[in-house]
Amino acid sequence: MKTRITELFGIEHPIIQGGMHYVGLAELAAAVSNAGGLGIITGLTQKTPELLAKEIARCREMTDKPFGVNLTFLPTVSSPDYPGYIQAIIDGGVKAVETAGNNPQKWMPLLKEHGIKVIHKCTSVRHALKAEAIGCDAVSVDGFECGGHPGEDDVPNFILLPRAAEELKIPFVASGGMADGRSLVAALALGAEGMNMGTRFIATQEAPVHEKVKQAIVAASELDTRLVMRPLRNTERVLNNAAVERLLEKEKTLGANLKFEDIIEEVAGVYPRIMQSGDMDAGAWSCGMVAGLIHDVPTCKQLIDGIMAQAEQLITQRLAGFQRG
Ligand SMILES: Cc1cc2nc3c(=O)[nH]c(=O)nc-3n(C[C@H](O)[C@H](O)[C@H](O)COP(=O)(O)O)c2cc1C
Repeated sequence: MKTRITELFGIEHPIIQGGMHYVGLAELAAAVSNAGGLGIITGLTQKTPELLAKEIARCREMTDKPFGVNLTFLPTVSSPDYPGYIQAIIDGGVKAVETAGNNPQKWMPLLKEHGIKVIHKCTSVRHALKAEAIGCDAVSVDGFECGGHPGEDDVPNFILLPRAAEELKIPFVASGGMADGRSLVAALALGAEGMNMGTRFIATQEAPVHEKVKQAIVAASELDTRLVMRPLRNTERVLNNAAVERLLEKEKTLGANLKFEDIIEEVAGVYPRIMQSGDMDAGAWSCGMVAGLIHDVPTCKQLIDGIMAQAEQLITQRLAGFQRG
């Protein structure tokens, strides 16, 4: 399939694997890219720019296809060494960066100078327009369904995607709730030129996470996620577990007085314990409502080939069949 997204990133299929903390390591990024999509290494999971450089080199050993790096710009006081991370990306010859969080304006000239394509993750039309205005090449539009941070507007993709299509000139991918060929065809119909998946890619053979994480996603239904940290205006969609229930109880009790320090035990530093050790109640971890559509743990190639075959079947048979009447 050829869209402005496949052309932009030099990939075969319009499918991107979104950056995921402690999931987006070289193994997964390479597997997605080898299957014809765009794999993404999560920059900040690597503690230093030197470690990111090593991860990029490791990914290069596993694929000769294009892959990208996610840079999440956190609103923290002690900012990570972003210039160092960007240098590692440039030196590693990576040509695609997925930015998220704060707007990447400050870093655009440097990225552009090195021919790096930037896709910014947005949860609203106004942020997408801002990304377009500052020179991003594409945006990833994350609806309310998404795993991770859906923003504070709560607009689901059935509205958000066509609204983005009404306003944007640059191409965009649909993100949040995407799982299969049906998602891809719907996303294309709503104006997107591809799709980005997070949760679906965790439940794959190559995702370098504990088996219990994959099984938790397969076992979960669309009713099993919760929104946490809304009182802090840092809303995150996570899979429900004992720690999340505790966290929500604190939110209820403390109301508007809730501070980050109150919930630190449930949210800080929990990713390695969950993703690597399989300690499933260690804290809150991002997961999308799309878990309800995930019933297996295929290889990335099986997943992507299946998506493309289903999409083609839907377009040429089901949809064309309606037209023939
Ligand atoms: C476990 C997990 C960790 C994530 N970590 C990040 C991250 O570090 N940076 C980021 O920009 N997005 C992160 N995301 C969001 C994904 O890149 C993607 O936008 C989102 O998962 C799409 O929604 P879906 O899960 O319904 O496919 C994460 C998502 C998950 C499920």
